Amino acid sequence: MRGSVECTWGWGHCAPSPLLLWTLLLFAAPFGLLGEKTRQVSLEVIPNWLGPLQNLLHIRAVGTNSTLHYVWSSLGPLAVVMVATNTPHSTLSVNWSLLLSPEPDGGLMVLPKDSIQFSSALVFTRLLEFDSTNVSDTAAKPLGRPYPPYSLADFSWNNITDSLDPATLSATFQGHPMNDPTRTFANGSLAFRVQAFSRSSRPAQPPRLLHTADTCQLEVALIGASPRGNRSLFGLEVATLGQGPDCPSMQEQHSIDDEYAPAVFQSPIVRAFFGSQNNFCAFNLTFGASTGPGYWDQHYLSWSMLLGVGFPPVDGLSPLVLGIMAVALGAPGLMLLGGGLVLLLHHKKYSEYQSIN
Ligand SMILES: *[C@@H]1O[C@H](CO)[C@@H](O)[C@H](O)[C@H]1NC(C)=O
Ligand SMILES: *[C@@H]1O[C@H](CO)[C@@H](O)[C@H](O)[C@H]1NC(C)=O
Ligand SMILES: *[C@@H]1O[C@H](CO)[C@@H](O)[C@H](O)[C@H]1NC(C)=O
Ligand SMILES: *[C@@H]1O[C@H](CO)[C@@H](O)[C@H](O)[C@H]1NC(C)=O
Ligand SMILES: *[C@@H]1O[C@H](CO)[C@@H](O)[C@H](O)[C@H]1NC(C)=O
Ligand SMILES: *[C@@H]1O[C@H](CO)[C@@H](O)[C@H](O)[C@H]1NC(C)=O
Ligand SMILES: *[C@@H]1O[C@H](CO)[C@@H](O)[C@H](O)[C@H]1NC(C)=O
Repeated sequence: MRGSVECTWGWGHCAPSPLLLWTLLLFAAPFGLLGEKTRQVSLEVIPNWLGPLQNLLHIRAVGTNSTLHYVWSSLGPLAVVMVATNTPHSTLSVNWSLLLSPEPDGGLMVLPKDSIQFSSALVFTRLLEFDSTNVSDTAAKPLGRPYPPYSLADFSWNNITDSLDPATLSATFQGHPMNDPTRTFANGSLAFRVQAFSRSSRPAQPPRLLHTADTCQLEVALIGASPRGNRSLFGLEVATLGQGPDCPSMQEQHSIDDEYAPAVFQSPIVRAFFGSQNNFCAFNLTFGASTGPGYWDQHYLSWSMLLGVGFPPVDGLSPLVLGIMAVALGAPGLMLLGGGLVLLLHHKKYSEYQSIN
């Protein structure tokens, strides 16, 4: 138990049990607009009539007194901007020519501006791969030697419109590196499946994270890519906006230094919404442990998390985790709740990987 709780809060190179990895990210946000029981959810792709394929997906979840906007885009590295407003009538405004310009500030707006109660963003910057040969759980670097990471800004992505499914309120960004000289992605892809919900429920598929109308589920899957070693572990580097000069008070986080910031600012939608004066915080989410089971077995790895605004849905979390949350956090806000890691389950029983209770 203790090991898994440490992993809950281990932002750095934590090597969790393959069963579960919980991560949680919370910033202060107003209580008032949270906890709507049901929301009217719509997904819309905002086309760029001006030029080449640019994916911009707008998820709008309207409650009685509030609206949550999630804007996903693969313009630059994959990113999501999350905005909560205190009206059911707020709208997203996109100016493509501004968004695609070198100064995209203001190219993405939620109106009316004074209805915005909370906003934040996550940028998925890099796919990490580590060589865990000869590495034990207790080693100083339990993930092993890093291979050069894959920059998600240099991926080419599918046309999101083709994957949009209004019935399940989901869409999938599927991509592979544009330049792949070693052909590791010749038969592979990295997929981000986004799903919104109009009410609380628990999906039939593991890890069966309880979700609410205030959350979206994100499932990241690495499928069929050739690992660069015999025992490769994978992870994702994620950047988020700090509040003021500080990063959210979690363990082992890093404020991105100036040298790194320009790479993050290639994300136009974040810059377009928040402007250029921002402090980014980055953390690595890593999947699996060198002791296995691992991606090497079946070249399949999927990892689910909930994204949202507010308190995480509590059902299914252990009392210990809840206790830590209450002490450490206190206020609802942006939430990134990482749930079950599903490895090599393509052909295996899901029941071994049920969520903790
Ligand atoms: C994306 O797919 C949709 C639906 O198939 C199509 O209408 C649209 O033209 C495509 N966009 C691009 C840029 O290919
Ligand atoms: C919506 O706002 C009104 C007026 O502030 C309040 O009376 C009502 O309880 C709110 N409804 C919800 C579901 O929060
Ligand atoms: C988009 O932004 C450009 C540049 O600021 C501006 O000239 C144009 O009028 C804007 N378009 C719309 C529809 O607001
Ligand atoms: C693992 O150990 C073997 C034998 O000691 C050594 O030859 C090999 O280079 C090591 N591999 C790594 C990645 O450290
Ligand atoms: C991709 O799949 C084809 C057909 O299964 C196979 O022949 C080829 O070797 C694979 N390429 C790589 C790089 O794995
Ligand atoms: C992977 O394992 C095979 C068989 O055990 C071995 O021959 C090969 O050298 C290993 N490759 C690396 C990069 O460690
Ligand atoms: C994530 O891991 C990679 C590879 O070890 C490292 O270069 C990078 O600095 C890490 N990022 C953070 C924010 O810790």
